[in-house]
Amino acid sequence: MGQHTEVESRPLYDPDLLKRLDFSESTTKFEPLISASQPGDGLLVRPLCSSDYDKGFIQLLGQLTKVGEVTQEQFFKRFEAMKTCPNTYYVTVIEDTQKSKIIGAATLVVEQKFIHDCAVRGRLEDVVVSDEYRGKQLGKLIITTIMLLAKYLNCYKITLDCNDKMIPFYSTLGYKLEPGNSNYMQIRFEKTCHL
Ligand SMILES: CC(C)(COP(=O)(O)OP(=O)(O)OC[C@H]1O[C@@H](n2cnc3c(N)ncnc32)[C@H](O)[C@@H]1OP(=O)(O)O)[C@@H](O)C(=O)NCCC(=O)NCCS
Repeated sequence: MGQHTEVESRPLYDPDLLKRLDFSESTTKFEPLISASQPGDGLLVRPLCSSDYDKGFIQLLGQLTKVGEVTQEQFFKRFEAMKTCPNTYYVTVIEDTQKSKIIGAATLVVEQKFIHDCAVRGRLEDVVVSDEYRGKQLGKLIITTIMLLAKYLNCYKITLDCNDKMIPFYSTLGYKLEPGNSNYMQIRFEKTCHL
């Protein structure tokens, strides 16, 4: 039973954090009004749980990018690895509770710094809303939740990477391209496996 209970309900981070977010602080407007605590009928905003493999979390990420064949065991291992890094990974999901399906997700990663008096900065990652739920403010909702969470956790800023066609979407949520400081550079590595 211990194992069963763990698989069913273990959250990645403290769900009470989401109850403390004040949506009236956000400049993003919702019409009709929704928030993390009242996302709409049959919907629930909450931390990722260890049982979410069975609720289609990985399939949902497949609507964002290539995910590969992630087994339940790999999912559990990664979940545990994230959970053992305290105050760092805030994978947040929207569940359709009638269908027991994860229909939206976004991640806040909190990075610890030495600069700015040992500040923390936030990174917004892996934003996705399932295609049949799009256009209902849920993208705005999950991103606003992450932004308020970052603020609550004292991040001095939050950044994201996106392709050009997403710039208008993020601009409406207050994100800005900083003149002279908006280049995104990367090197992609060949797949290696040392672990
Ligand atoms: C981007 C995404 C999360 C938006 O989700 P959504 O639930 O449809 O978004 P919302 O309903 O909250 O839309 C909010 C506003 O943004 C606009 N918008 C949505 N997607 C947009 C896009 N791709 N480009 C520009 N504007 C967009 C909507 O029209 C809406 O405008 P309105 O408030 O004036 O009506 C969703 O389309 C998605 O999962 N896409 C595939 C994955 C992806 O691209 N993720 C982002 C990676 S950086």
